[in-house]
Amino acid sequence: MVEGFDPDLALTEAATRFGTPSYVYFTDVIEARLAALRAAFAPWFAVSFAVKSNPNPALLGWMRDRLDYLDISSGGEFALSQQAGWEHARISFTGPAKREDELRPAIAAGLGELVIESLREARLANEIAAELGCVQPVLIRIAPDRVPKGFGDQMAGRPSPFGIDVEDAGDALPRIAAMPNLRIIGLHIYSGTQCLKPQAISENWRIFIATFGAICDDLDLSPEKLVFGSGLGIPYHPGETPLDLAEITDEIGPELDAFRAIPRFAKTRFVLELGRYLVAPAGYFVTRVVSVKQSRGTRIAICDGGLNANLAASGNFGMVIRRNYVMHRVAIVDAVDPPHEKHDISGPLCTSIDKLGSGVSLPQLEEGDLLAVHAAGAYGPTASPIHFISHPLPVEVLVTGGQLQDISQFRGD
Ligand SMILES: Cc1ncc(COP(=O)(O)O)c(C=O)c1O
Repeated sequence: MVEGFDPDLALTEAATRFGTPSYVYFTDVIEARLAALRAAFAPWFAVSFAVKSNPNPALLGWMRDRLDYLDISSGGEFALSQQAGWEHARISFTGPAKREDELRPAIAAGLGELVIESLREARLANEIAAELGCVQPVLIRIAPDRVPKGFGDQMAGRPSPFGIDVEDAGDALPRIAAMPNLRIIGLHIYSGTQCLKPQAISENWRIFIATFGAICDDLDLSPEKLVFGSGLGIPYHPGETPLDLAEITDEIGPELDAFRAIPRFAKTRFVLELGRYLVAPAGYFVTRVVSVKQSRGTRIAICDGGLNANLAASGNFGMVIRRNYVMHRVAIVDAVDPPHEKHDISGPLCTSIDKLGSGVSLPQLEEGDLLAVHAAGAYGPTASPIHFISHPLPVEVLVTGGQLQDISQFRGD
């Protein structure tokens, strides 16, 4: 977080001017996080932003001159990246079920790299590129046979729809290499996400280094690019500690140096692919208390946006046991230390799973108060069932240098 950063003035202004529920993204925070990433990892890595984590076109536009690459995972994300003015050559395209109707426009437009996840996809892309009379640069996504413990979600190390299993690479990759309209320029691994353990992240990259090294030797490939799926996590819940990037670089830096020193990797660009680490802490989800109910000893604040607008904070986006996100009552002027009490926080839906918090200690919430849920800059509105029960769709606001801009993708009117 940016030192001395107090979001409440901007959150209040955003809610007053543009309404709630809303997502408010602070570019100063993204800037600071990007600077920290660059400072820690610049000796090795360029940075690629995973559009799935926040595909807002205004945000993608803001990133255009600050980040190196974008990774998209659908034809829709390709269109959003185009809308944001990204050059096609700086875009890679992942995803386990790419269709002909999304591959063709991307290849025709001069997509930087297609990330091949199966032989079926390679054959299809090769046919399309042949019809278009071009040769498409590709990265092959490999699914390692092991992911260390400590990742919130795991995309390999067990049966997985993602990428080519490392056990099958020896058979599949020469076949792809022989396809005349594809050119293998490197490899890609994204095997785990949301990890707060520096040792697990280092161990995972150790697996990547070994896998990349062995496959490049087998294929006699001097790759232009190797993509390391970062797995860098962020704290969502009270008591979680942010990652110390120096702990990761202290542990794995020497091995990255040794890897880079191998002649076939001398000219390779290593890329760190990530989403939430950069943007999640820069965003707040703001919801307004519509009604307060005292029910059988529990004070319940019922808000205008809940699960429908922020599925992740309701614990229904891949969390096994629901835990409260960090949240605070928005206040511009407050008593120094207002008395706190426990609240349950629920949303506007007619279902008991529409809950943003249980037993949350907050200054007493009243009708009209604003509540800000932290870590909301990634997997927000586009990862939520925003049409369920037809409540107003969430607003999105970008705050840059104190200026607020309505960048809503979905308006309720
Ligand atoms: C291929 C790929 N790249 C990047 C990401 C971004 O992950 P995160 O937002 O955790 O950094 C994901 C997440 O699922 C992914 O599957």
